[in-house]
Amino acid sequence: MAVSCALLLSACGGSGEEQSTGSEDKKVLNVGTEATFAPFEFMDKGEVSGFDVDLLQAAAAEAGYEVNIQNTGWDAMLAGLQSEQLDIGMSGVTITDERKETYDFSVPYFESVSMIAFKEGTDIKTAEDLKGKKIGVQNGTTGQIAAEAIVGKNDSSISKYKTSALTFQALQSGDVEAVVTDIAVAYEFAKNNPDAGIQTVGDDQFVPEYYGIVFPKGSELKAEFDEALNTLYENGTYAEIYKKWFDEEPNIDSLKA
Ligand code: ARG
Repeated sequence: MAVSCALLLSACGGSGEEQSTGSEDKKVLNVGTEATFAPFEFMDKGEVSGFDVDLLQAAAAEAGYEVNIQNTGWDAMLAGLQSEQLDIGMSGVTITDERKETYDFSVPYFESVSMIAFKEGTDIKTAEDLKGKKIGVQNGTTGQIAAEAIVGKNDSSISKYKTSALTFQALQSGDVEAVVTDIAVAYEFAKNNPDAGIQTVGDDQFVPEYYGIVFPKGSELKAEFDEALNTLYENGTYAEIYKKWFDEEPNIDSLKA
């Protein structure tokens, strides 16, 4: 039977000085996400799961917080950060100059790049081949920006969907011929849907981008989570989480560049 720490401090490994680290004292931070973006965030048995979840939980523990991660959706996450109803956005969000005008970002925690996913048989070898094709992107993402950079901003061949999952549904149903999304997400979808015949191709026109934890502008949490992330980079925890989800060693130096 579990012994309550509150009743029996000596049973909980302490002189008593440590008692303020007990979970009952920790502030719970409200986190928004768009959880159709495996392997970063996706719903698993009713819970948000993924690389981002493990990393955020580790960083929060390091900084002395608990997190309540809700699948708010992308737009509501961004709105919730602006209105400060949310403390954190954790959703594979790329750090961009434009977004930095509205939000604060942590130090980078993942390097990504855009990738094109399409069904085998579609004639796509480079990004230029997107021209004249029906393209699906998640609305308001860097995938949209990457697609627009190739075919033009007002090109009606780009369909914009509310979630990442809807872009892949459109690809499978044939509503679009290509999806422009983040590399690890394209790979994960291809891997999880072996019968869908999904191919992927990158292009030098797509430039590296970096994910950061998002905070309302001016949030004090930024400094605390930067410190926590740096600790996780140093003490091996980040590498452990990375290996769990990506089956390889991370290149932490690339995040510091
Ligand atoms: N990294 C891209 C961006 O920031 C896509 C993020 C989409 N995330 C998601 N959970 N659907 O625009």
